[in-house]
Amino acid sequence: MDRIRLRGGHALSGEIVISGAKNAALPLMTAGMLTDERLVLSRVPLLADTETMGQLLAQHGVAVERSANDPRTLSIGGAITNTEAPYDIVRKMRASVLVLGPLLARVREARVSLPGGCAIGTRPVDLHLKGLEQMGAVITLDGGYIDAKAPHGLKGATIVFPMPSVGATENLLMAASLADGRTLLANAAREPEITDLCDCLVAMGAKISGIGTDKLTIDGVASLHGAHHEVIPDRIETGTYACAAAITGGSLHLVGGRLDHLGAVVRTLAEAGVEITPTETGLMVKRLNGLHGVDAITEPYPGFPTDMQAQYMVLMSVAEGASLVTETIFENRFMHVPELNRMGARINVHGKSAIVRGVASLSGAPVMATDLRASVSLVLAGLAAKGETIVNRVYHLDRGFETVETKLAACGADIERIAG
Ligand code: EPZ
Repeated sequence: MDRIRLRGGHALSGEIVISGAKNAALPLMTAGMLTDERLVLSRVPLLADTETMGQLLAQHGVAVERSANDPRTLSIGGAITNTEAPYDIVRKMRASVLVLGPLLARVREARVSLPGGCAIGTRPVDLHLKGLEQMGAVITLDGGYIDAKAPHGLKGATIVFPMPSVGATENLLMAASLADGRTLLANAAREPEITDLCDCLVAMGAKISGIGTDKLTIDGVASLHGAHHEVIPDRIETGTYACAAAITGGSLHLVGGRLDHLGAVVRTLAEAGVEITPTETGLMVKRLNGLHGVDAITEPYPGFPTDMQAQYMVLMSVAEGASLVTETIFENRFMHVPELNRMGARINVHGKSAIVRGVASLSGAPVMATDLRASVSLVLAGLAAKGETIVNRVYHLDRGFETVETKLAACGADIERIAG
């Protein structure tokens, strides 16, 4: 298994090109199942998760072809010949459940393995299933699988989410695009990745209004057609490299980074002493004077993203003063804390909150990651630490960050991947 070795203490400086957003690309790839024509997606990041999604689509019979000139451009389409999403793929990647809405909408049946829990929490899919049932699907759970059928097709419905769910909003948006009649999704998630999916569906002929808000109205159409769509730049990668610049006391130009997608991250980092200013092609990030402890609470967009919580905690670990970091989205997303404490951080977890007391410096250590964002937080800690850090289980990192070591090394970090 690959590892990452880094030696901290180098101020980063230079330019990093932000990749396409993993969490936008995955639902967009499943949107390719909604038409027999070709959906061409560009800026699809080269990651383990997008590779897995390609395998899942292929096993449904849908062709996924990579452009010969650009490996990040995929052409997706073709008839669905198999409606089962097997456990072996779904257990690797929970976003596999996003084939449910498209399968039901297109071929009126689906058998999708239940994703089960994962390292960061139990993560049920009840909101996906309830919404589809309201649209007329008959769903049974059998042998660890979701068996869903809509023999007479899906019908428009009014669905009020008890809380915003990114995945449920995406599944129901895709299902509603081909349903009979009007669907209203209220208290829907409004992450930039959802807006990106809406924009792509509209380009494919869907009728959606309220895009960018928590009330989406979808008027179903009989069929969708092919389109070309460019995946938005990854806001979590942008925020992660912003923390890298700040932690090392350097400055980075994040090409493609979008201020309008960062939500509460901009204000929180500004209060902590990190300046983020738009440029013609992206964002310039630099640390002003010292870093200060500032509280953060994770919330649905435009609140502070749970996917930035671990990285922000590293920043707070080397800031002056204390801060309270509260996780409200997932129940078990502090697994990076014991590893950060082994590197000299002073963090105490009390239920949903962690008190972070800033220290003058961290010290390198061998550490182990348990999920994607936790593993990149350990890389950030290694950049700030004195001495050598080895991050084990790099496969978590490869699920969601394109060539992290190459991007950081080009900006002056002492970092390398050790194969094997
Ligand atoms: C998406 O997961 C992202 N994944 C996650 O990113 C991200 O952390 C999360 O949204 C929150 O922003 C993708 O986009 C592929 P949710 P998702 O449904 O859709 C509860 C990463 O590191 N819930 O918005 O699964 C759920 O348990 C990953 O890239 C239900 O109770 O998240 C959670 O507490 C990790 N029932 C909350 O809602 C449901 O049916 C929000 O989850 C669905 C969700």
